Amino acid sequence: MRKIIALIAGDGIGPEIIREARQVLETVAGKYGRQLDFAEVAGGGAAIDRFGEPMPQCSVDACLSADAVLLGALGHPKYDGVAPAIRPEKGLLKLRQALGLFANIRPAKLIPALKEASPLRADIRDRGIDFLIVRELIGGIYFGKRKTEAIEGVMTATDTLTYSRPEIERIARVALELAAKRKRRVLSVDKENVLDSSKLWRKTVTETAAAYPGIALSHMLVDNAAMQIVRDPAQFDVIVTENMFGDILSDEASMITGSIGLIPSWSRGEGKRGLYEPIHGSAPDIAGKNLANPIGTILSAAQLLRHSLDLEEEARDVELAVEGVLAAGYRTADIAGAEDRPLTCSEMGERIRREIL
Ligand code: IPM
Ligand code: MG
Repeated sequence: MRKIIALIAGDGIGPEIIREARQVLETVAGKYGRQLDFAEVAGGGAAIDRFGEPMPQCSVDACLSADAVLLGALGHPKYDGVAPAIRPEKGLLKLRQALGLFANIRPAKLIPALKEASPLRADIRDRGIDFLIVRELIGGIYFGKRKTEAIEGVMTATDTLTYSRPEIERIARVALELAAKRKRRVLSVDKENVLDSSKLWRKTVTETAAAYPGIALSHMLVDNAAMQIVRDPAQFDVIVTENMFGDILSDEASMITGSIGLIPSWSRGEGKRGLYEPIHGSAPDIAGKNLANPIGTILSAAQLLRHSLDLEEEARDVELAVEGVLAAGYRTADIAGAEDRPLTCSEMGERIRREIL
């Protein structure tokens, strides 16, 4: 059966990393006799230049008719001054909402071969880092009503944070189901000592978890969670939290592994269609120089094979190829040691493809 993958290369290093990931997908598809079609879709700054907006309806429609979306990176400082409505990031929010992608999954995993890159003290890091952040993605303060107005001559700005019970239940279920295949522990993070939305969050997650007797549920306030991520990350298995807390904690979590260029992420809704992207940004400073690390995007493509196309064996093959190349000592500049000769972005892609064959 033919499957369609929408490719949004985006900005900065986006086109370079997407090119490598696409070729990896073509290689693994060829090996297993799978039919993959690719649709190149404009998004971010690249779409602003062509269409005047970061996610035109034609791009949304192309993603809606695909089986999965693979995204490079969106955003470029050249749009910093432009009207907020047409910033590249707006395109990403529009796409998440249009595809109903309410769950964003971001792993924090220490790769043994690269553990020296972790900024954590060795005794903390060596206890292991392997957890998932499950972030609610289309609710909360990101999508609430906002307003900037003069009230009695004083400029005032408002953003609202709203969650309904069904929105909390569905994200809680994603976390509980993921935990069932891992260490069977879910930590729900909120700010229940202050926010009404967090009180409902905690109550709803607790009630939802009652249907999953094999999973141990606990709760933590977000400020404490931010501290625990650097104090003792080995304690976590699956963390579930609302949109903005998840945005902040997932950046923190990516940092402690020391290899932000290698971490994939994926977002899903009710069906199989998902959006897959590396967690790093568009790195405009190294764009066009063939220096980027394509591994985060290639591992995102592996997750795409697994979760949207149900191609577990193919996904595993890609992951093993990446592990093999890293274990053999190949490095891109971002993770190279002083004595390594770093590979370019395209050389790393090529190495991984050879490992697959
Ligand atoms: C992320 C990013 C986005 C977010 C921005 C670019 C809107 O930080 O995916 O984490 O805040 O969700
Ligand atoms: Mg973020």
